[in-house]
Amino acid sequence: MTIDVAHGSTSAQSGAVTIHPAWVRITHWINALAMLMMITSGWRIYNASPLFPFEFPEAITTGGNGLADALRWHFAAMWLLVINGIVYVTLGILRGRFRRKLFPIRPSEVMADALAALKGKLSHEDLSVYNAVQKLLYLGVILAGVIIVLSGISIWKPVQVQELTALFGGYDAARYVHFFAMAAIVGFLLVHIALAILVPKSLRAMIRGK
Ligand code: HEM
Repeated sequence: MTIDVAHGSTSAQSGAVTIHPAWVRITHWINALAMLMMITSGWRIYNASPLFPFEFPEAITTGGNGLADALRWHFAAMWLLVINGIVYVTLGILRGRFRRKLFPIRPSEVMADALAALKGKLSHEDLSVYNAVQKLLYLGVILAGVIIVLSGISIWKPVQVQELTALFGGYDAARYVHFFAMAAIVGFLLVHIALAILVPKSLRAMIRGK
């Protein structure tokens, strides 16, 4: 027998609560792989024509030999990222996961949870409920994902999608938007991975689901 509860489901035999259904776990880990490929090959592409007076160390970039290979990697991973992202966002909306887990986000709760986290007093007992800071960060990174894809398409096909490119303020501005969306995602990832290591049971739940 399976009983549905507000944030997951529980099997009467095992008593274990499903925190992340299979579709969340599969799309999450495909996304992590695709993001890693996109970010590190993107750094190599950036190095060929930097926007700022710095380059990324060659050792942390990927994509074969030089710019042409890095572009091939970037575009290959793009399909994985976009198709997987569409599946995750569509299911997240249709199954009501976003509504249940990421909303509502109240500024007063974000402040209270951020303060509690800084004091080390934020509870991680119930993994099925995201705290307000998590909600804000997850929603933010999903939005950053949408922006990085749209700004990427704008600089990939600026003639074919000129209306979209114009929306970002033109080709040059879209390049900056693409860069800052990457920086936001990398910033998110540093915190996200550190927290997954600090709360290992949350990592187990994202692997095994329970
Ligand atoms: C090695 C890399 C990663 C690790 C170890 C990791 C780990 C985790 C863990 C443990 C959770 C569950 C958090 C919880 O239950 O409190 C989670 C959820 C999540 N992660 Fe990651 N993650 C990684 C990469 C990424 C990347 C690249 C992104 C997006 C750019 C991402 C976005 C998310 C989102 C949006 C959720 C919430 C999913 C949902 O509930 O629908 N993660 N991650």
